[in-house]
Amino acid sequence: MINYKKILIKNGNVLDIANKKAGVFDVLIDSSRIKKISKNIDVKDALVIDAKDKLVVPGLVDVHVHLRQPGQEYKEDIYTGSRAAAAGGFTTVVAEPNTCPPIDTPSRLIQLLKIAKKESIVNYYSKSAMTAGLNGYRLVNVENLKFAGARAISDDGHPVSGDRLMFNALKKGKEYDILVNPHCEESELYRRRQKEKSKRKSSDTVANPPYTAEGRFVMRDIELAEKAGARIHISHVSLAQSVNEIAKAKERGVNVTAEATPHHLLLSEEAIKEIGTNAKVNPPLRSKEDVEAVRRGLANGTIDIIASDHAPHSAKEKSLPYNKAPFGLIGLETTLGLVLTYLVRPGILTLQQAIEKMTILPAKIFGLDKFGIGSLTPGTRADITVIDMKKKWKVDVNKFFSKARNCPFDGWKLQGKAILTIVGNKIVMKDGKIIESI
Ligand code: DOR
Ligand code: ZN
Repeated sequence: MINYKKILIKNGNVLDIANKKAGVFDVLIDSSRIKKISKNIDVKDALVIDAKDKLVVPGLVDVHVHLRQPGQEYKEDIYTGSRAAAAGGFTTVVAEPNTCPPIDTPSRLIQLLKIAKKESIVNYYSKSAMTAGLNGYRLVNVENLKFAGARAISDDGHPVSGDRLMFNALKKGKEYDILVNPHCEESELYRRRQKEKSKRKSSDTVANPPYTAEGRFVMRDIELAEKAGARIHISHVSLAQSVNEIAKAKERGVNVTAEATPHHLLLSEEAIKEIGTNAKVNPPLRSKEDVEAVRRGLANGTIDIIASDHAPHSAKEKSLPYNKAPFGLIGLETTLGLVLTYLVRPGILTLQQAIEKMTILPAKIFGLDKFGIGSLTPGTRADITVIDMKKKWKVDVNKFFSKARNCPFDGWKLQGKAILTIVGNKIVMKDGKIIESI
């Protein structure tokens, strides 16, 4: 990566929602910080970047990614995952803890953060598991994990079935001010589904995704959060019923936030037949009505943010018959283009909303705004994404920086792409190329 003391981004269309700044400005970075944003900045000794007609926004934030390190580096690792993030315009990621072994102790988390310091070219944060071994029985040491740097506690991929356990997690979350971020699928049905899955003939394909009681679990978790007076963030909302529950809870003042993924916003269950295992994901793709409801929820603020749920798997795993293939699909390199093309262009979201939902809002929910993430506030760290809104491109999985290829959007034609990613005073991506060293 190229490390410059001073970088001057000239004449870009700056859009910084947190500071209500929108218009054509120059942005000066000095020693990894935003020095100044105004018209006609003139500095002699800076690297000058012409951003005329380009969009200049705070570095994008993805709070739901699986980078598979430690233990499943054949799917992805921090090195490749962070490069995929930079290519997609993300300057900050928050990794899921369902690694092998899971991140459920402070020492594992500290060790991982140390590795990430060396391997990652973007800001890397991690969640911790909610229960030891992700097994749903014993709560982790929330206080120590918070102290070690966990941004949230989450058993992503696994439901926490015990009401008391979830309630205790929420109480600890409140006590130590750490976000509780559950995977909302009802456990009895989850287990039954796993059983049914293993009984099915390997050649079977599944036309309709199996039923899950996401809405019921969303309701339970919200009620428990309300009782505990805790903050709760619902991952990857996929059902109209969940959107309704979240809307009702927000109305009565519960401290709940929620996210939606591009795949739940753009694909319905019909896509499974056509796409196959690359459309097999948890929660599953739903009906067209659900997709509509999630879109409406995103637009009216019931669903606060967009996150990719980048979930890499190997080609070998995804080439298994449908019922044997793992859940998950990748999104770091397509999320921005998909959002701009299919949500902003048709007017489902305004550009301001889309940028807010990918910068300051996720930063706030995960407590990253206090590090200057998600905004272009002078004096704070200079994480910046420059976007070419006009750039037309075609998704080609073979060009991905991710190790994985399990993307249901391969071949899609998109408009709008990150062309420059700056993390601090390091240019980590320029025109689709990762910049490794000076
Ligand atoms: O599809 C999914 N894949 N959903 C999850 O919740 C977990 C994830 C994974 O780890 O692959
Ligand atoms: Zn996930």
